[in-house]
Amino acid sequence: MIWNVLQDPTLGCNSYIVGDEMSGTALVVDPLGVLGAETYIMAAQDLGLSIAYVAETHVHADHMSAAGELVAALGLKVSLSHRAPASFPFNPLHEGDTLTMGPVAVDVWETPGHTPDSISFVVRDTLRGSEPWLVMSGDSLFVGDVGRPDLVDATPDKVQAAALDQFRSVHRLMELPDFTELHPAHYGSSPCGGLFMSKKPASTIGYERRHNRMLQTANAMEFVDQQLKLLKPPPEEAAALRAQNLGYGVAVAR
Ligand SMILES: [Fe+2]
Repeated sequence: MIWNVLQDPTLGCNSYIVGDEMSGTALVVDPLGVLGAETYIMAAQDLGLSIAYVAETHVHADHMSAAGELVAALGLKVSLSHRAPASFPFNPLHEGDTLTMGPVAVDVWETPGHTPDSISFVVRDTLRGSEPWLVMSGDSLFVGDVGRPDLVDATPDKVQAAALDQFRSVHRLMELPDFTELHPAHYGSSPCGGLFMSKKPASTIGYERRHNRMLQTANAMEFVDQQLKLLKPPPEEAAALRAQNLGYGVAVAR
């Protein structure tokens, strides 16, 4: 398996290329607008891979995605949760779907909470073993924290329901083996998480199970209360960025 991380340190964003040398194919996850489509095409080429899939863990509300630009250049469709209310044609992903690149299998887990369309990608290299090796958790589970529940709809009952979804989703991710690497969509002081986000961009499920402060209660309402108490200010232009990433062409200043 081939694994490559491309970052934007300013906003604390991670994006990923997962590939397979035998088939020469790759999946790009959460490509960043600030880096641009060409960066991903060149990076895949340098790794000897051609991009077969472009996927998003969710519709982002803190930065512009490069997914639209990338699929236009490659003649593909973006792979997104079937729940994403996008205005453009996309490849809808459902719980239990698998994207394959030779022996590399990327399983789709629906992990709503941060957004209703949040999914996680659980990656297995079946040449090496049947167990998960890593998970790209989007903004569901971070290093030290979890994704905020208020960016799609900030009305109190909707935020509470989303936080409850987030509780279920992060505890579901805890069903993965301890050794599973955790690779979220953000790190550091990204506005998509709470106050406990680590500046370290990756972790393991086992370390987070033991030391993530948001995972130390098994009580859903305690988790919800803690999430709501620790909310940071929302990202600037969150609604406009999300609309733009959904293809609605809203003007965004950055
Ligand atoms: Fe997000």
